[in-house]
Amino acid sequence: MRSWARPPARRAAMLLPWARGLGARCLSRQLPLACGAPLRERAARGHGAGGKGLVLGIYSSEKDEGPAQFTSAGDAFDRLVSGKLRELLAVCGPPLKKGKTRIFHGLHQDFPSVVVVGLGKKNAGVNDQENWDEGKENIRAAVAAGCRHIQDLEIPCVEVDPCGDAQAAAEGSVLGLHEYNELKQKKKLVVTPQLHGSAESEAWQKGVIYAEGQNLARYLMEAPANYITPIKFAEQIEQKLRSFSNVKVHIRPESWIATHQMGAFLSVAKGSAEPPIFLEIHYLGGANTNDSPLVFVGKGVTFDSGGISLKPSSGMDAMRADMGGAATICSAIVTAAALNLPLNIIGLAPLCENMPSGKANKPGDVVRAKNGKTIQVDNTDAEGRLLLADALCYAHNFNARAIVNAATLTGAMDVALGSAATGVFTNSSWLWTHLYEASILTGDRVWRMPLFEHYTKQVTDCPLADLSNIGKYSRAGGACTAAAFLKEFVTASHWAHLDIAGVMSNKDEVPYLRKGMAGRPTRTLVEFAARLSQDSHNTK
Ligand code: BES
Ligand code: ZN
Ligand code: ZN
Repeated sequence: MRSWARPPARRAAMLLPWARGLGARCLSRQLPLACGAPLRERAARGHGAGGKGLVLGIYSSEKDEGPAQFTSAGDAFDRLVSGKLRELLAVCGPPLKKGKTRIFHGLHQDFPSVVVVGLGKKNAGVNDQENWDEGKENIRAAVAAGCRHIQDLEIPCVEVDPCGDAQAAAEGSVLGLHEYNELKQKKKLVVTPQLHGSAESEAWQKGVIYAEGQNLARYLMEAPANYITPIKFAEQIEQKLRSFSNVKVHIRPESWIATHQMGAFLSVAKGSAEPPIFLEIHYLGGANTNDSPLVFVGKGVTFDSGGISLKPSSGMDAMRADMGGAATICSAIVTAAALNLPLNIIGLAPLCENMPSGKANKPGDVVRAKNGKTIQVDNTDAEGRLLLADALCYAHNFNARAIVNAATLTGAMDVALGSAATGVFTNSSWLWTHLYEASILTGDRVWRMPLFEHYTKQVTDCPLADLSNIGKYSRAGGACTAAAFLKEFVTASHWAHLDIAGVMSNKDEVPYLRKGMAGRPTRTLVEFAARLSQDSHNTK
């Protein structure tokens, strides 16, 4: 085994920052230290400022010149320090803009550092131009900025103002602090966010679970492809689900995939030295184990070189996240289990690498999918739809309420919408409404895309086979021809394909996510599943 292929010395849970408890204990680079430990002890351990940090929100005034308004937690703290915070804010500069922070030291011995964060307008709510709840988004962004400020000061504990929506505040804190630095010797201090006060603790905990779910997907996507191979991916997910008695995980090997006649998936996998895996998860949270499940399917290409239709080398490293579909759907199921959502969910993830080799697919090769349809592989870089074709056929075995697949499928999706929203192609307005309404709450938006016959014709007009894996007008409407291709493997009446290529990574567009792989739209999938669990329509 070459040295780069060796597994990391420390395994699984030890390596997962999102998995570390966010409960009463406070973790630092050194030994765990209770948040309530005396200041002397903290100072002796060298935590610069010592004590806890506190993040408090402040609204902008309705009129531009009026006084800013504290949240109720801000008001209470200001009273505790005899109005000093308000006084200092008034003299230290212009009113705090949305998402901006200002720090004050020495106001209170329990909280030597207090960061005040701008929440924007108090009456912000659902913005029907932006298709999201602006109040929640403002809280996520502000709180994330406040927590990072505390982290920069190397203070290991921070209490966070719920800002009127403890779930959004927890999401902002846990998402905002996440960073992948597993493989660096010098790590950033792990900061533990906690709810300030005791009200809304259930909503806070829910937000922590949602955000940890997204962080799990970010972790899996960010990790190098030599660390997250198909089998390692499956093992990580299995380990996360081990403690749930109502979850079964099947790690299907290559022989199983062959027995199930998944010829399209296998044709991609055979170009790589890493064996493929078909990961199958059954979460049985429903009232009856035989209630029709929601079936999630995720593209799990742990590295996409393009195969013989090789991608340009610049930026190719980002294709370690081409398992983002598998990462988000599996993380959503881990989250659903943690929330104990009352429905059944099945997760299916075909996992493999797309590599060039003497065994790889060649342009023009014809392969046979599970449903018997033949596919001409005109471009080996359009591999995701080959995996999904077989996985979607298999998804029809479960009498699903709905089948939802997620895939970093096309660069064209990124061209169309960028990172503003996931593109949703669906044959069901019922499904669309649930996804759309879920995304308004999470702020991780979706946008409906067409599944016209127009695009189907462009993939069925094929010289050697039933289908070509690329549209005949190559680049035109690339995300739509890919979706039309998938539709050829779907007979279910409630199916949605989520093309998540545009939202795969974050530069600085989402202010509460650091630069890197985004884990989007995990929270929307969880919220969607939660909504479905409350919807008796179409329970079959
Ligand atoms: N994994 C890529 C799509 C992708 C591109 C995801 C950029 C995230 C960011 C996919 O397998 C691919 O290469 N698709 C091709 C399809 C084309 C050959 C029809 C593409 O988009 O160029
Ligand atoms: Zn590709
Ligand atoms: Zn791909």
